[in-house]
Amino acid sequence: MATTTLTETRVPLTPPLQFKIALVTGASRGIGRAIARELADRGATVVINFRNSVGPAEELRQEIEHNGGEAHLLRGDVSNRLEARRLVRDLLDIYGRLDILVNNAGITRDRSIRRMSDEEWAEVIETNLNSIFYCCSAAIPAMVDQMYGRIINIASFSGQAGNFGQANYAASKGGIIAFTKVLALELAKYNITANVVAPGFTATDMLSAIPGDILDQIRSRIPLRRFAQPEEIARAAAFLICDGDYITGQQININGGLYM
Ligand SMILES: NC(=O)c1ccc[n+]([C@@H]2O[C@H](COP(=O)([O-])OP(=O)(O)OC[C@H]3O[C@@H](n4cnc5c(N)ncnc54)[C@H](OP(=O)(O)O)[C@@H]3O)[C@@H](O)[C@H]2O)c1
Repeated sequence: MATTTLTETRVPLTPPLQFKIALVTGASRGIGRAIARELADRGATVVINFRNSVGPAEELRQEIEHNGGEAHLLRGDVSNRLEARRLVRDLLDIYGRLDILVNNAGITRDRSIRRMSDEEWAEVIETNLNSIFYCCSAAIPAMVDQMYGRIINIASFSGQAGNFGQANYAASKGGIIAFTKVLALELAKYNITANVVAPGFTATDMLSAIPGDILDQIRSRIPLRRFAQPEEIARAAAFLICDGDYITGQQININGGLYM
């Protein structure tokens, strides 16, 4: 009897984010960089925003293109309302649409409330929280026209649990969580979802501002006994974007069990 050989014809999978345009703020370093890379790997055209670090941003653009992806650099200080809105306008001029907005840019200026200056308070609120309002308000009209949008706002466990010396930072991150719920409510009818990714301590330049002995103390308080890698945060953001069509107004905590 003749035997038939079963030959599988493998149809190449279409990358889930093919033809999608993504803006990641603060993508030159750390978590934003990992998110930009992850979205590019999944087929999105990624706009890498940064404020100062043109070298690392350009290096990331080249890496993405080397791997067959598409990326574009747009410098802009998102804490400045004119620059933030110009950033989104420039992106729309280039691509004509914006599908994915990841509001990631953030800073710390840690000090106890008794010693914190008005400038340290304001700089953190402007960079971490006001920037998100500026970028969202500029992006939403295009997303509404498209009847599609995925917004990810990067908060922190500090905005959920509080953290000593971080009144400005915790207030900005708690504000992001509340703002995201309103975004989700107001935009759901346009098929736009908005969610928060809330990292715990993550191995980036942001942690390098903390002295080594304090880092050891922090690590010992984390149930999983280690800091997150930026790629672990990026995969959660990508999950919400690629597979989260029915998820909106939620927070995904990636903190090794630090806050439950
Ligand atoms: N690392 C952590 O432990 C941790 C924990 C919880 C939440 N987060 C949050 O995760 C996000 C990323 O943090 P990270 O640890 O990756 O920080 P990072 O390594 O210090 O990188 C910060 C990024 O934000 C950009 N940035 C800062 N201010 C900006 C502005 N005004 N306009 C545009 N870009 C700006 C920086 O650009 P330049 O390179 O040009 O300065 C850089 O690309 C932040 O929102 C942070 O609050 C971090």
